[in-house]
Amino acid sequence: MMKLISKQPSKRIFSGIQPTGNLHLGNYLGAIKNWVNLQEEISSIFSIVDLHAITVPQNPLKLKASTREVTAAIIAAGINTEKSILFNQSSVKEHSELAWILNCVCRIGWLNRMTQFKEKAGKNRENATVGLYSYPVLMSADILLYRATHVPVGEDQKQHIELARNIATSFNSMFDSKSKDFFCLPEPQILGPGTRVMSLRDGTKKMSKSDPSDASRINLTDTKDDIFNKIKKAKTDSNPLPATIKELEKRPEASNLLKIYSSLSDEDLQKTLDSFAGKGFSYFKPKLIELAVEILNPISSEMRYLLKDPVEIDKILVKGKGKAQKIAEKVLKDIKNLVGLIH
Ligand code: AMP
Ligand code: TRP
Repeated sequence: MMKLISKQPSKRIFSGIQPTGNLHLGNYLGAIKNWVNLQEEISSIFSIVDLHAITVPQNPLKLKASTREVTAAIIAAGINTEKSILFNQSSVKEHSELAWILNCVCRIGWLNRMTQFKEKAGKNRENATVGLYSYPVLMSADILLYRATHVPVGEDQKQHIELARNIATSFNSMFDSKSKDFFCLPEPQILGPGTRVMSLRDGTKKMSKSDPSDASRINLTDTKDDIFNKIKKAKTDSNPLPATIKELEKRPEASNLLKIYSSLSDEDLQKTLDSFAGKGFSYFKPKLIELAVEILNPISSEMRYLLKDPVEIDKILVKGKGKAQKIAEKVLKDIKNLVGLIH
């Protein structure tokens, strides 16, 4: 019988974030805030996924700076690098190796269904890179390389995690002929009211790093004044705030702002509605500004402080790389054995 050297942990978290553009409130509420809470209970691995970033053109110098900036933001938001593993993806070469193997498991038909590729490639699909097309395979490799059980992400990543589950199932039946359970099927964790934060300019569009309008998002580096101005100018409608979630859902901008409030204050959406039902935006917006500044300002000041010492940030990443690679090496050896590759 083939002897395997890696162990399936009962619970392990893996999640990633791209080092591109400005980290914003959506990244914080949809992902990082949940990571910070989850790391207390479950052993966690977080990666700044620079190999995902190069699926679209990047400026090399800017990419390095953004990688450090995102690392600083994650630490400033509360990731404890003594407890959790934090590293940049390209430093652990096993990610690329596994991605290739999984490219030979994933079917073209599965990738053709990925909505994010369709959105990102736009009309000129012939000109998109092969990397952008197979991006979800690399993401599956990220997760499966650590035999992760849980993947906390915003809602936009749900389809990619379903793909990782399909790839895992297919790998198990192709290569783990005996027990067929080498990879467990990773569970997406889409938690809280902030899983899909929308643009401040248009409540039907996702808040995004790539939106040309800076007023559409609150960046983690924004000053008090920026936050004040952006929320003050945020699009709303002219009705008082409703009392029920059902009524709220019909009003995209109101829904977005109330969900942001509820998520920032860690309270149930209904409780937030109870506090503001019947009030106008002129009453609600100053409260939201106050709360957003209270939560985000300490993060941006800590981030600025950490960024003064890039050498220290690099040291943290190298330490994280060491810890991540120790796990990844073993899992990849097992995978190579199962596939029949001499190593
Ligand atoms: P990305 O910036 O695409 O690397 O995304 C990093 C994490 O932030 C992923 O878990 C995303 O699902 C999450 N995320 C990105 N944009 C939003 C948003 N507007 N609302 C909630 N979560 C988001
Ligand atoms: N694709 C994710 C995003 O754009 C980032 C990511 C890469 C990721 N690898 C991952 C998220 C693995 C969770 C698990 O948001």
